[in-house]
This record gives sequence, structure tokens and C-alpha cells, in this order.
Amino acid sequence: MQTFTDISSLREQIKQYKREGRTIGFVPTMGNLHEGHMTLMREARKHADIVVVSIFVNPMQFDRAEDLNNYPRTLEDDSQKLIAEAVEVLFTPTPEIMYPKGLDKQTSVEVPEVSTILEGASRPGHFRGVATVVNKLFNIVQPDIACFGEKDFQQLAVLKQMTEDLALDIKVIGVPTVREMDGLAMSSRNNLLTIDERQRAPVLARTMRWISSSIRGGRDDYASVVEDASDQLRAAGLQPDEIYIRDANTLQAITSESEQAVILVSAFLGQARLIDNQVVELQSESKEDSDEVPSTTESSE
Ligand code: PAF
Repeated sequence: MQTFTDISSLREQIKQYKREGRTIGFVPTMGNLHEGHMTLMREARKHADIVVVSIFVNPMQFDRAEDLNNYPRTLEDDSQKLIAEAVEVLFTPTPEIMYPKGLDKQTSVEVPEVSTILEGASRPGHFRGVATVVNKLFNIVQPDIACFGEKDFQQLAVLKQMTEDLALDIKVIGVPTVREMDGLAMSSRNNLLTIDERQRAPVLARTMRWISSSIRGGRDDYASVVEDASDQLRAAGLQPDEIYIRDANTLQAITSESEQAVILVSAFLGQARLIDNQVVELQSESKEDSDEVPSTTESSE
């Protein structure tokens, strides 16, 4: 595996691959890699000859300095995992390389509407930070395809919108969430949990499944479903942050036209803010989704 920290040497290598007619699959990450990330790399490998991974803890997408400082940085361990996965290129720029003039003077990318609702409303500027860094990484790496976890459902929607709106010639692929045996979605944030918190954490996925079966059982009083779910989380010692039941395509309120709902849940447990999501079929004759949380999707944060 070749590791680059500066943009120009990476660009030279990418040009060389392109001259050889090889296609590039890209997986942007913030490191602290787990099995969920590895499924992104395996997916990228299916679509491209060369897999490029970036590890960059992006200061522009953090709204709290404490979260940025606490974000686990495990580069040595991550590199070993990437080598074992036969990844060809690792890009690990510093904040000075990505934002040489500082964050305040950085041109940014704003994706309207989808960035401003839900998590975007509670974390203003977060999706601007994500869209800006991913656009800049896309410009540096020039990939043919890029893989992101469906666990960060809204992030994926923002990045698909950005790619379409800016006519980027990159196929954005969403990869299903990978879960631990007890249903907890894999995430770097799980490392912040104590042993006791880790045992309680799967209640988030269980509550999400409960919402899903309530909807499929015919409940459409979504506000009360959300209240009941919040009570369940509190009873298990989690602090509910946001629970939304929305149209899976628009992320807006469900209407009679909606075909799929998405349940987006987040809750605080100790130092960690855990997130998860599940798509539920609406108005379908054969309810294809099951009560089981699907066995696969990734996250980063
Ligand atoms: O999901 C993540 O790890 C980050 O938000 C991303 C996409 C790498 C941008 O920093």
C-alpha cells in the first residue's frame, strides 16, 4: 500500500493509474476503522481496479471542539487493516494540507434543503463540512465510484444530491450497515462506551425495530410512536436525541404518496452519540421488510 500525505504526489499516482486505464474506487473515512468500513472497501473493489482510502478527521464537520478532540485516532492500526484488505492507496492529509488558509477562508459547498433538516437543523454547518471535504477529496482523487455507509442515511442523501447538482462524474454507492451480533450498528463511536453502556447500547436498534413493527402494524400516529420510543430509550438509560419517521426518498413528512418510510434514531449514551436507521415499506401488499435488523451497513463516525 502506498501512503500519501500531500496532494500533488497522490495526483501523480492517480494520473498514472488512469494512463494505465485502471478505474478508481474511493472510500473516504475518518479512520478508527472497523468491519463496517471494510465492507465499504470490499464494495469499492467490486466496482473498480484500484481502491483508494482517505483517513482525515475533518474539523469542518464537527460542531463541538470536544468531539473533534475526542475522536479516536488510530492510524497505525488502521494502516494494518488496510494492508490486510489489499488497499492500494491511503491518503492521510493534515488539516493544514486540506485547509491551508484556515477553515474561515475555505470555499464551502452548501447542499440546500436536505442539509438543513433533521440532523442538519440540530448541527448547523455539519453537512456543509461533510459536503465540502468530500467534494475536495473527490477533486483530488478523481474516482469513478465512491462508497459510503447507509448508516449515515442523511449524509448519503446529501452527498448524492451534491454529486448530482454539481454534475460530478462519480457513482455514489450506498452500502448496507454492518451490525454486531446483538444488533448494535458498528461505529467508531462505540469505542467510547464503557462495558456497562455497551451492554445497554443495542436497545437503540431494538427500539428502532419496535417503531418499524408498529408502523407495519398500522400505526400512523407518528408523534405518539416517537414519544413511546423515547420513553423506552430513557427507561434503558439512554438519552434520546432525535427520532424521526420520514419519507425515505424526500426525508420530508410522510404523505399518502410515500412508498417507504425511514426511521432515523439517535441517542446519547455516556460520551457517545449513537445513530441508526431503518427503511420500512409502506402501502405494499407483501410487506417484504422483516422485524430483523438487516445484518449489514457501515458508519464512520
Ligand atoms: O462518514 C464519514 O466518515 C465522514 O463524514 C466523511 C464522509 C469521511 C467526511 O469526512
